[in-house]
Amino acid sequence: MKLLEGKTALITGAARGIGKAIALRLAGEGANIAFTDLVLSEATEQLEKELQTNGVKAKGYASNAAKFEETKTVVEEITKDFGRVDILVNNAGITKDGAVKRMTEEQWDAVITVNLKSVFNFTRAIQPVMWKQAGGSIINMSSVVGVSGNANQANYAASKAGIIGFTKSVAKEFGVRGIRCNAIAPGFIETEMTAVLPEEIRKSWIDRIPLHRGGTPDDVANVTLFLASDLSSYVSGQVINVCGAMNT
Ligand code: NAI
Repeated sequence: MKLLEGKTALITGAARGIGKAIALRLAGEGANIAFTDLVLSEATEQLEKELQTNGVKAKGYASNAAKFEETKTVVEEITKDFGRVDILVNNAGITKDGAVKRMTEEQWDAVITVNLKSVFNFTRAIQPVMWKQAGGSIINMSSVVGVSGNANQANYAASKAGIIGFTKSVAKEFGVRGIRCNAIAPGFIETEMTAVLPEEIRKSWIDRIPLHRGGTPDDVANVTLFLASDLSSYVSGQVINVCGAMNT
């Protein structure tokens, strides 16, 4: 018996990186997959097909997670197409790094809106669906820098710390209907987001990791699977670091 047979998962920002790995991992355990990203492309069509090879329903939707009304509309469409949503993974995120003394208002607003407001947008839109189902699992992608802070990433760290406060509050509000909400705080994960960092910065991160390697998107997807499934049925309001012991 697969862990997520008959369940439907909605994953934001899944065209590549961690979101894509999560979509593939959950589909491998039998979940139907609705995923979003800013635009649909040949790559997202390929992903739909790859997901469907698991014998599940899979569909991509173009949606900007930072927009409140657009999110409401896409969640309505997904609920109509799939009939239900059991798992919500708020994964979409961006960086616009810089020292506070030089950070522009645009850099601040963009990161807070895409990373933090998007989590509110999707949780707000999915709430009536999960409430009616009397169950569900919401998983929010935070970061170790949301726990510890990071120089030159104050906007990003603030957005990821905000996600933690939001997660714990939602766990307390929604628990009464059997809905769980947890956050994952990945450390240094090798994706296109981190590939843009200069080699010496990447090396300095890896030197600080006791397991002495960057994490893979699959390392994060495995923890997401645990939180999505009934294996974690009594786990809610938690932040799980996936960081090779970097942040302990
Ligand atoms: P990525 O940049 O490879 O993928 C992010 C995806 O989100 C892209 O497909 C992008 O188009 C999409 N996206 C961006 N803005 C969006 C919006 N407004 N609406 C819908 N989709 C949007 O990034 P990666 O590395 O896969 O990161 C995924 C999540 O994990 C992010 O929230 C990131 O902050 C978080 N994270 C990543 C870490 C890393 O080391 N890669 C470490 C800690 C957290």
